Amino acid sequence: MIREIVVYPDKRLKLISKEVSEFNADLHTLLDDMYETMRSKNGVGLAAIQIGEAQRALIINIPLDDQEGEEYGEERSANDQPKENTLEMINPVILAKDGLEKFQEGCLSIPGVYEDVERAKHVKVEYFDRHGKKQIIEDDGFLAIAIQHEMDHLDGKVFIEKLSFLKRKKFEKEWAKRQKA
Ligand code: CO
Repeated sequence: MIREIVVYPDKRLKLISKEVSEFNADLHTLLDDMYETMRSKNGVGLAAIQIGEAQRALIINIPLDDQEGEEYGEERSANDQPKENTLEMINPVILAKDGLEKFQEGCLSIPGVYEDVERAKHVKVEYFDRHGKKQIIEDDGFLAIAIQHEMDHLDGKVFIEKLSFLKRKKFEKEWAKRQKA
């Protein structure tokens, strides 16, 4: 089911999400809803809190087109993000990270805003899949950036908090103007 996306500055985006303890049908429904919701908005990732569920669960599905290096933000066909390509991460923990990389990020909770953000280039992350099986993933590309962006949501953070003071001020001003319109 497609769910409503929580939009900045909704206070729920500041919540620290709780660890998932049961890998049951409710969790699977949540993950399925997250996929449908993300797809409906042409997103590449979504954290559970973005549909109002403060649970440490996130999904990422990098479109096949993007993997081939096409322009970000183009209209995508459903075939570009097959469900079986979805990375579902429950209770993720960063085991190691290093390097630095600047990437232009966007967020379904702050639609239409794209800004350069600096994050670790390489991450190694431990997480559980939807069946409660422990997994480890390592990446130093777009996926590494996406994982860090989505993991921030689990701790109540959004990417614009990483902007410089002046850029943040500019963003807040423009965002407030847009909310009024
Ligand atoms: Co986001």
